[in-house]
Amino acid sequence: MSRNILIFDTTLRDGEQSPGFSMSLGQKLRIARTLSDLKVDIIEAGFPAASPGDFDAVHAVSSEIDGPIIAALCRTIPRDIERTVAALEPASRSRIHTFIATSPIHRREKLHMSRDDVLKSAVNGVRMAAEASDDVEFSAEDGIRTERQFLAEILQAVIEAGATTVNIPDTVGYSTPSEMYDLFRWLIKTVPGIDQVGISTHCHDDLGLAVANSLAAVEGGATQIECALNGIGERAGNCALEEVVMALRTRADHYDIEINVDTRRLMAASHLLAAVTGNFVPRNKAIVGENAFAHEAGIHQHGMLASRDTYEIMQPQDVGLKASQLILGKHSGRHAVVDRAREMGYQLEEGEIEAIMVRFKELADVKKRVFDSDLEAIITGSQTGGMGPWSLNWLSVVSRVNGETEPTASLTLAHEDGTTSTHTGDGDGPVDAMVEALEQVTETKIKVLSLAMRSISLGEDAQGEASMRATVDGVEFSGHGLSTDIVAACAEALLEIINRATRSAAQLKQSDAA
Ligand code: KIV
Ligand code: ZN
Repeated sequence: MSRNILIFDTTLRDGEQSPGFSMSLGQKLRIARTLSDLKVDIIEAGFPAASPGDFDAVHAVSSEIDGPIIAALCRTIPRDIERTVAALEPASRSRIHTFIATSPIHRREKLHMSRDDVLKSAVNGVRMAAEASDDVEFSAEDGIRTERQFLAEILQAVIEAGATTVNIPDTVGYSTPSEMYDLFRWLIKTVPGIDQVGISTHCHDDLGLAVANSLAAVEGGATQIECALNGIGERAGNCALEEVVMALRTRADHYDIEINVDTRRLMAASHLLAAVTGNFVPRNKAIVGENAFAHEAGIHQHGMLASRDTYEIMQPQDVGLKASQLILGKHSGRHAVVDRAREMGYQLEEGEIEAIMVRFKELADVKKRVFDSDLEAIITGSQTGGMGPWSLNWLSVVSRVNGETEPTASLTLAHEDGTTSTHTGDGDGPVDAMVEALEQVTETKIKVLSLAMRSISLGEDAQGEASMRATVDGVEFSGHGLSTDIVAACAEALLEIINRATRSAAQLKQSDAA
């Protein structure tokens, strides 16, 4: 009989903590709802002791999301565990995930602790967590580079102290599939009591092996995979959820594993995360990239026409792509839009349909056809944007090629307090000029670090998408903008960055005052 493997998603913790992927509370909730619709088994919602924002996010996800287990991370120290228990309090099913580094290099250089100290801290932490919850996961950080005998000893001790899942992370993405397989087999043979608890793998992608290593761990006996949407996470990221899940499903003949994830929602979840964080998914990314189900070469198209199986190992529908497209336009009504969104994997909530319809009609007025990608951009835009305090009322930009005119940008911003301000900036180019105008209006100092633009649908009235990373008063943020005018999309991306910076400064002020 097939084994069931649990999918533990850490997009909101390991993913969100990496540079360029930070999310506001509203955005985290949106992603958590999507993960719940995707039917992951466990959502790791954050690290409550790390910051007040993380605490609030875990608390909010615990209050709102019903279905998956909500997990939160903490060190094995009492203050961290107390904060975690408090943040998880509203959850109907929760997990305390406590960790300490076990490898020699981490013990010596980071913790300045002996093996014995680490073992005691792990046992005490798990014991305290187990008093508060009957679902406790222990992670041996850098477990892969830990002496095997010590790893076995500490896992046995935490199981005896009440851990119900033990996780052996490849924190630095160093392992290989055969090593991984061998280690999991060895642990299962060696550690008394390990067959009574969950055994988890958590792989980083520094050598591009995170998915392969996770699959090898499963073959070696792991019962849980920790992973993140689009593979986001520290440095090169974590095991990509969509890849590992589709590998298990597509090669069920090989792995003989069952998973609960609804794979038809993968595409929507991946795109939502990309829009929320302002990071495009590469075209050639496995499963969710634009090219993953596109066939260009004549010989491939010929084969596909004869039989899809010649070049396709998965059905596009299995990951939430529609093979045929329903064309939406200005005559389409609410029903068609909501229906199409549902087919694409987005469950629109009553409160957001109105705003989406307004943007849809505006776009349909300037475009003959609204493609799936346009609709998706509207949906993700409405779910990510509109959070203020600033919004763009008016923009006029002058560019220059070989002429005398200075590139300038004039714009009017509205503030949620009801005031509006207009300014004109100049610079080396229109984006530079926009930055100057925005700096004047919002009284911030902006430095653009990267800007990527692309067309997201076809035809002369296609929508343009801009993704930008910039520092505001020295702190890095990312932003995402969308418009039929690519310069306006840049302005929207910049504005999202300024809005994020303003909100995060306000949040910091609040927590300082508290
Ligand atoms: O990579 C890692 O070791 C981790 C643990 C804290 C689970 O993220
Ligand atoms: Zn990690």
